[in-house]
Amino acid sequence: MDISTEIAGLKLENPLMPAAGPLTGNPKLIERAAGQGVGAIVTKTISTEAAEVSKPAIAKLNGGVLNCEKWSEDPPERWIDDYFPTIARENDVPLVLSLGYNPDQIRELLPEIEEFASAFELSSHYLGRDPEPIRNIAAAASEKTDKPIFVKLSPHVPDLGEFASAAVKGGAAGIVAINSVGPGLEIDLDDLTSPLGSDDGYGWLSGPPIKPLALQAVNEVYNAVDVPVIGVGGIASARDLLQFVAAGASATQMLSHAISEGADAYGKIIDGVPKELEKLEVDNLTDLIGKYDNSS
Ligand SMILES: Cc1cc2nc3c(=O)[nH]c(=O)nc-3n(C[C@H](O)[C@H](O)[C@H](O)COP(=O)(O)O)c2cc1C
Repeated sequence: MDISTEIAGLKLENPLMPAAGPLTGNPKLIERAAGQGVGAIVTKTISTEAAEVSKPAIAKLNGGVLNCEKWSEDPPERWIDDYFPTIARENDVPLVLSLGYNPDQIRELLPEIEEFASAFELSSHYLGRDPEPIRNIAAAASEKTDKPIFVKLSPHVPDLGEFASAAVKGGAAGIVAINSVGPGLEIDLDDLTSPLGSDDGYGWLSGPPIKPLALQAVNEVYNAVDVPVIGVGGIASARDLLQFVAAGASATQMLSHAISEGADAYGKIIDGVPKELEKLEVDNLTDLIGKYDNSS
């Protein structure tokens, strides 16, 4: 049974990575995730300034998560001078470094952290509804590195296939789909307030409630571009993970289920993948990529 996979030349021992977020926000947390045997680590998104985040920033609800986090609240200098060197020294798992958001910020940051990266992931969460800026961030990163660049799409764009194609035109070697969904709102009826501290109380939804949206997005992107797709959104079991592979994902990411259940959720899911593949009588994980059959 072979559960290894490859994305744009990046070889992974297994197809599950922690997605960019609070569980990969500092070296200690990353060490904990790496100890679960994950295929690679995606670090919390950083930008040229530290983010200011209103608290509470995370609310657990109905099996999902609503959040108003932004990028890392740590200043980029801390990541450059301390976190990335520590992480690279103490782990031998591939590191996918997540960066945001506009071309100038990417041109400034990327060279400072290039040596620590196996690949880069660019967040497009705040880029709006026009595909051109997506192409531009991929192009800005391509100017500065020969390492693989993955562009992460948010589901609120009008046409995922068009946006994925724009990223590939700019130089993306892979597409990550999807970021959290929204904006969304939860109301505590006892005091008629939101559980989140953002100005309007709104946040972004993730976890099992978004899985059908994420699976559809992965399949749409898989059909639109010729680069590998990394699937993320609502995974909570090995079977969920394999659904993403069948939809077209070469690898996957997960966050909310590990926020709800603890970081050892990564190890449990990875351990379950060979057994589930055996039930499907599939020998190599990569044989299942894109095998979703929509002919019926
Ligand atoms: C609390 C929280 C913080 C997040 N922060 C980031 C981030 O910094 N950068 C990013 O690209 N995605 C971020 N995300 C989105 C996740 O990486 C992922 O795309 C999304 O949660 C869907 O996956 P899941 O359902 O497995 O959580 C965040 C999600 C949550 C819940």
